[in-house]
Amino acid sequence: MIDLPRTVDFDGRKVILVDQRKLPEDLVFFECEDVECVAFAIKNMVVRGAPAIGATAAFGLALVASKFEGGRDELLKELRRAAELLRSTRPTAYNLFWAINRVLEGAKGSSPDEIREKIIGEARRIAEEDVENNKMIGELGYRLIRDGYRVMTICNAGSLATVWYGTATAPMYRAYEEGIKFEVVALETRPVLQGARITAFELSRAGIPVKLIVDGAAGYAMSELGVDLVITGADRVLRDGTTYNKIGTYSLSILAKEHGVPFYVAAPTSTFDLNSGPEDVKIEMRDPKEVAFIGGRRIAPEGVDVINPAFDRTPPSNITGIITEKGIVERPLDEGIRGLFSRSRGA
Ligand code: MRU
Repeated sequence: MIDLPRTVDFDGRKVILVDQRKLPEDLVFFECEDVECVAFAIKNMVVRGAPAIGATAAFGLALVASKFEGGRDELLKELRRAAELLRSTRPTAYNLFWAINRVLEGAKGSSPDEIREKIIGEARRIAEEDVENNKMIGELGYRLIRDGYRVMTICNAGSLATVWYGTATAPMYRAYEEGIKFEVVALETRPVLQGARITAFELSRAGIPVKLIVDGAAGYAMSELGVDLVITGADRVLRDGTTYNKIGTYSLSILAKEHGVPFYVAAPTSTFDLNSGPEDVKIEMRDPKEVAFIGGRRIAPEGVDVINPAFDRTPPSNITGIITEKGIVERPLDEGIRGLFSRSRGA
């Protein structure tokens, strides 16, 4: 079964992260003692995956609060500065902004000690809830996986992309626990190779059969091998179900549609951005070197123009359903999402 430490933790003086740049060779930790280090870790993908970076940012603010020596107003000013820095790290994953706002909203109190306690408490709750939500995604989603299924996924929306247990992998871990026999096809996910380096690592470590393919083999897998189900994660879901996720997700959704394969997104409600339209969402453009080099070796001629978007946008018409901790949203997705959020507000 799943044998991984928490991706993100806080011991009161340090933020402790699994260093994902070192996987799969080494499972080692990266420790931050100030918020600049936390911002570096998010930007440079020491930690990655929307829920994991949300929890990391929350602990980054907890770190600022725990180390701060001074008055109430200076603490609040310092927290706002830290929040700005953290917000500037990666623009697409909504959990980052959601977690920072949630911690800041909770930063109320008349003394620095009171504020400190609230902030640390809120950051810890964000991390705990993430694990609980993922478990619930697993509980609700595992019945989609049947004996003999081949399940495809892209990037890593696994335990290492969250505090623990994962979103897209949650139904897989739970189905495996139930004794359901299935295999996973993981797309390698160029350029950062989260599928090869991280998903293949964590699923095989848990004992789940996994086959790794290059991104360009997704069509082959669907037409020649047969794929029964696709489950991906999400960096941001809009109110009509439009989903932003790792580059290649959109192409995969078209392939799934063409081949009649159900295409599910697994995401906690903290990934839902109900107030933005596509015009408001910034797709992160990353360093051209990620494309022009592999493992430190140049694979493209010097000077060639590179476009390196980290995410793409999948329209609701290509998505069969969205597995959240509060229920599976079915089509029409906009109505389902409205229902989900009005139910949870009423509850
Ligand atoms: O660039 P990354 O590795 O942070 O991208 C991660 C993804 O696209 C995941 O699918 C998404 O964040 C969901 S993680 C549960």
